[in-house]
Amino acid sequence: MSSSNGMPLVVTIDGPAASGKSSTARMVAERLGMRHVDSGALYRGVTAARLQAGDPPDLWTEQSVLDAARRVTLVPGETTFEPRIDGEPCDAEIRGEAVTAVVSLVAKMAHVRAWVNATVRTTSAAHEAVADGRDMGTAVFPNARLKIWLVALPAERARRRVVQRTGRAPTAEELEAETLELESRDHRDREQTQPAADALWIDTNGISQDEQVGRIVALAEERRS
Ligand code: DC
Repeated sequence: MSSSNGMPLVVTIDGPAASGKSSTARMVAERLGMRHVDSGALYRGVTAARLQAGDPPDLWTEQSVLDAARRVTLVPGETTFEPRIDGEPCDAEIRGEAVTAVVSLVAKMAHVRAWVNATVRTTSAAHEAVADGRDMGTAVFPNARLKIWLVALPAERARRRVVQRTGRAPTAEELEAETLELESRDHRDREQTQPAADALWIDTNGISQDEQVGRIVALAEERRS
């Protein structure tokens, strides 16, 4: 898909943790025949690669994290880019608790952010892309033709996360623990998690994922014509 001025169309989808960015971005990319680029997977991949050395994260230097980043690549799949560490698939590892617990630390490192941003831009230059993360519409693609900011209340995001993990509705205790965990992640990531001034906000509280995806696809098709 190309935009009316002949430039490849980039769609950015940003929002807080568990707002459904990645699954939405993947489905939007599939529907539009574009490719999904998950910037969070790069932060997670670098964190997982660095964790393999086994030393405590509070002793990590930024240079040692950048050295680990050299082992992380994005390999084009059918509709998305798969993260790899040393050429090996790492999806389960990067989504695990050990990575989730320390990835915010890595995401605060300025040179790591520059590496992720450059990797996302290079990847997206070769393929029309739906890029998701926190700052895709601000730092990485300030000129993107379509910018989406997804919002959902912490309790709703927590509910979705438990359902995704367990396949059933959460108990009251699970919901409370997950909401607290998400609020603390929101706090840790708050600096880079900001909507672009020209982003379109989609409140996902009362709508299904199909509806969200349909709205974004329709907006992207408008931009194309
Ligand atoms: O969206 P996620 O949970 O996969 O993100 C993982 C971490 O990376 C989280 O700490 C936020 C951070 N991140 C970021 O700072 N900027 C991005 N563009 C994407 C993710």
